[in-house]
Amino acid sequence: MTAALLPLKDYLRSHGQRVDDALERFLPAPPACPTPVSDAMRYSLFAGGKRFRPLLVLAAAEAVAAHAALQQPPDHAISPDDVWRLALPAACAIEMIHTYSLIHDDLPAMDDDTLRRGRPTLHVVHGEGMAILAGDGLLTEAFALLAREPADGRPAVLLRRMRTIFEIATAAGALGMVGGQAIDLEAAEAAEREGRNPDFGMDALQRMHATKTGALIRASAVSGAIMAGGTEAAVEAIAEYAVHLGLAFQIVDDILDVEGATEDLGKTAGKDAAAGKPTYPALVGLEHSRQLAQQAFDDGLRALERVGIAPGRLHEIAGWVVTRKK
Ligand code: IPE
Ligand code: IPE
Ligand code: MG
Ligand code: MG
Ligand code: MG
Repeated sequence: MTAALLPLKDYLRSHGQRVDDALERFLPAPPACPTPVSDAMRYSLFAGGKRFRPLLVLAAAEAVAAHAALQQPPDHAISPDDVWRLALPAACAIEMIHTYSLIHDDLPAMDDDTLRRGRPTLHVVHGEGMAILAGDGLLTEAFALLAREPADGRPAVLLRRMRTIFEIATAAGALGMVGGQAIDLEAAEAAEREGRNPDFGMDALQRMHATKTGALIRASAVSGAIMAGGTEAAVEAIAEYAVHLGLAFQIVDDILDVEGATEDLGKTAGKDAAAGKPTYPALVGLEHSRQLAQQAFDDGLRALERVGIAPGRLHEIAGWVVTRKK
């Protein structure tokens, strides 16, 4: 695939466009899907997210396929088209799950936000009930998609699909994002009750971030690696890279809530401190938070080096995560 030679911003644009086209194809539409929920799902899904997680799925798949190609005779190597065919459903499913998590995160019962991806939040426009249903719809459709695609009956591919479903379900569920959101919610409620920030140590904060955000980011990279047929060692290294990347991602999200501008972020800045949320800047300050994000970046790249996965695009994506302004 010539995409490996593209500058990062072109890679993000071209891969992002292919993800958007696939999401459009995979998402149920009227008349089979009732118009109100179809409109609500589309409102949030096509509002202009960065598509970071699907891009990570694809970049991990490409990196693992390139790594495997070095170790196999050329006629066994997986083609770029095959990488796409195998990894694109997981990329789209994860973006659906991520979008559901944002819709529910913004509800009045949770972060109570009115701006997301540069638009009024879904519940503001379509009402709370429809926002809950659109989130539920995106979550369940994601698993229908994972169970159905890629339509490839080879036993090895079926097995990869099962593993991917397990990884994504575990990351999205009570051991992952739902669990992390529960910790976050409880902390915000405690802050409101007691009128001060909850006593969160570094370990507790790291655990909250690893679950609420890190788990799905880890699952993104792991899904790409599994679907592209990575060896156990490659999948493990990719997982370790992504655990560090996920931590960096949420630290930067916390920093941007302090330093970013609402117009750039497309969501209201300054809400974490106002809600008494446990965040890295609140716990260790902005400067140390930046250092910790950089350290997570370095740790992530070391994991790839250990098994000889060329960092290429995964290095660039990690750089984007720590330097992003939105
Ligand atoms: C925001 O995620 C929520 C977090 C987990 C921090 P993103 O920053 O990836 O949001 P979009 O998809 O670009 O809108
Ligand atoms: C949300 O974290 C993580 C999710 C699982 C959605 P935040 O509450 O910090 O995300 P933003 O800042 O609203 O995007
Ligand atoms: Mg939140
Ligand atoms: Mg929020
Ligand atoms: Mg945030």
